Amino acid sequence: MNTIGKPTTVVLSAEEIAGIVARLGAEISRDYEGRHPVLISLLKGGVIFLADLIRQVTIPHHIEFLQVSSYNGSTASSGRVKILNDLQVSIEGRHVLIVEDVVDTGMTLAYIVEVLKLRNPASLEICALLRKRIASPAGIPLRYLGREIPDQFVVGYGLDYRENFRHLPFIAAWEPDPTR
Ligand code: IMP
Ligand code: MG
Repeated sequence: MNTIGKPTTVVLSAEEIAGIVARLGAEISRDYEGRHPVLISLLKGGVIFLADLIRQVTIPHHIEFLQVSSYNGSTASSGRVKILNDLQVSIEGRHVLIVEDVVDTGMTLAYIVEVLKLRNPASLEICALLRKRIASPAGIPLRYLGREIPDQFVVGYGLDYRENFRHLPFIAAWEPDPTR
């Protein structure tokens, strides 16, 4: 396997992430008291965030996973979204919270929200760890947001570049080598 370099510029340290996740967990626990929400993690990037987040959520809840694809191995959003693995349960009448790693254009979430709304959840909100500050976002309202970051490609804490770097405990900026 050829080397694809090392992300060096840390955007969020492990300690900063932990602080953000604790805050979000507390907000969710307060807001969803007595509502037994379903937290839906978007695979694969959102899985580490979900795993940490639910350990900061103090109220009863379920977790589910949804896998969609939109990037096809590039660092720019293709705008094409496909459901690769669907939910295992009905969300009709349930309070649903989508747990997403990073919102870039917002097109992925816009599509998922549209699909999930058709299944008649009691409520549908989004919790995103990161949102990029970009010129033309899709304008998807985020009920919970960890941190806004500059428009750059980032890896670590679940986020990948071609499946690499998901294991990093921090989030770092990454400039892919266009010749590879
Ligand atoms: P959007 O549809 O443009 O908002 O793209 C959102 C999805 O693209 C996220 O769920 C991520 O999986 C992926 N993505 C967007 N930006 C990054 C990044 O900087 N690093 C890794 N994955 C990203
Ligand atoms: Mg993702």
